[in-house]
Amino acid sequence: MFTKLLHLIVLILISNFLSLSNNNEIIPKPIIQEEKPGFFTISPNTTIHIQDSACQNIVNYFQAYLQNFYQFNLIENTNQQNSIYLQIDTLLPLSSYSLVIDSTTIVLKGGSESAVFYGIQTLIQLLPVTQNNPIQIACVSIYDAPKFEYRGMHLDVSRYFFPVAFVKQFIDYLALHKINYFHWHLSDDQGWRIEIKKYPLLTEIGAWRNGTYAIARKKIKKQATVIGNDGIRHGGFYTQSEIKDIVDYAAKRYITIIPEIEMPGHANAAIAAYPVMSCFPSEPSKIKAIDLHKSSQRNKKMILQRLSLANDSIKKVVREYWGISDDVFCAGNENTFTFLEDVLSEVMSLFPSKWIHIGGDECPKSNWNRCPKCKARMETQGLKDAHELQSYFIRRIEKFINGNGRTIIGWDEILEGGLADNAIVMSWRGEAGGIKAASANHKVIMAPNNRVYFDHPRSLKNDKFKMFFGGYIPLRKVYNWPVIPKKLAKNKQQYILGGQACVWTEYVPTIPVATSIIFPRIAALSESLWSHQDVKKYRNFRKRLKAQEQRYLLWQIKYKP
Ligand code: ACM
Ligand code: ZN
Repeated sequence: MFTKLLHLIVLILISNFLSLSNNNEIIPKPIIQEEKPGFFTISPNTTIHIQDSACQNIVNYFQAYLQNFYQFNLIENTNQQNSIYLQIDTLLPLSSYSLVIDSTTIVLKGGSESAVFYGIQTLIQLLPVTQNNPIQIACVSIYDAPKFEYRGMHLDVSRYFFPVAFVKQFIDYLALHKINYFHWHLSDDQGWRIEIKKYPLLTEIGAWRNGTYAIARKKIKKQATVIGNDGIRHGGFYTQSEIKDIVDYAAKRYITIIPEIEMPGHANAAIAAYPVMSCFPSEPSKIKAIDLHKSSQRNKKMILQRLSLANDSIKKVVREYWGISDDVFCAGNENTFTFLEDVLSEVMSLFPSKWIHIGGDECPKSNWNRCPKCKARMETQGLKDAHELQSYFIRRIEKFINGNGRTIIGWDEILEGGLADNAIVMSWRGEAGGIKAASANHKVIMAPNNRVYFDHPRSLKNDKFKMFFGGYIPLRKVYNWPVIPKKLAKNKQQYILGGQACVWTEYVPTIPVATSIIFPRIAALSESLWSHQDVKKYRNFRKRLKAQEQRYLLWQIKYKP
């Protein structure tokens, strides 16, 4: 009898311990987290109080979360035994929060509104993953603050267009992982995605391509094979009112959207709409020459038809395959700058972000080197080569953007030919660009392609689509990303604002594929960007991820682990 009782007690203790630990597995890991005995119970009778009206937005967010996943709401601003208190505490550092849960109260204090929001994200992760009612939360004291001020994710909507609903879902994923910047890649060779009132053809023509060359690899790291053009018209764009709605949606989640308008390269879609922006307006766009004798009869016919089309009426087309195009914005033509300044003015009126991304990557110089206008520009400006012409281009755009009270971000190619004075560099070709820019006292965002390009597969076995960029970036590699380059001098590390992962979509044609490349690496990313080195341990992260994966199920995020 006694041993049976002992057994029972042990079992109860173990199950309590399991539910406790299961409830306290937070990603990203907080700085201090002290478990205490007891539970706080949240039920429809629980009340929530705010001191500052600014926190009402956070209450609304939390109420919507509870309604969505647990089908009840809290009572607002009524005093009672069982209460949650949110407040801004100016004694705390701006981005830090403390969350103290005991059996009768939850007190969440943040140094700012956004810090209180991060505390709510932590509280959300303390809720059970099943929809039991009432909900019990194990008592705990947490103090937390982010390691980096810039914690970002990028999404390319040009190679494949993603609808507003998915963009909002993506923003929700960021918020749930305490990510605070969304870098939105809105234009590229294969599609222009933002309505610009002054230039309607950008979306009438530039938002649509007449087919896509599907590419697949048999194995990771093996050469890609062109399967052929699918001949399916693809495209779409966001109206200005949709953009405003998305910006507002993100702001309510304390996420700043950084819009990117690509220049001077990756401009085929804009040039298809307004060929005059090209160095050679009447030269037809290049159509992919693929190995015709390996193609099916159907493909052969289609390719020949497209080649003939390109040679007569449709000279410039929105590009139908990936890679880098020689057809870039003409740097010698004043119209180019008028056009881009008009576009950027509309962009700035839609996006309150103090930072505007102007691309700057992968701009071949072959057209500039044979264009009379570009050559004349180099001569009159005393520029020694086309790299300096690129630098002229970026500096001129920077001046315009600075004149509007904003700062430019550019990919690390903007270092070539001389860096614009106030530019922030986004280091994507590994760490070298970041090291060079930070060493010259420029702010840097790290996004190295060998660490955090999520279009590189995360698994060696589970890619049923056989469509992916080269490389291989497993979860552990994202988790162990130190963000600050090891080779950067100590006194220059302050210039690293943080980092971001990039979701390029050449090989991501659908939402399920996007989800499967984002998850679960977004969890590792969030910990790389938020958590301090001394609390980071991969094995411990994997354990916490198991609990988080249950939460992903609750959020109906479907991906193959
Ligand atoms: C890039 O991946 N071309 C920035
Ligand atoms: Zn030119």
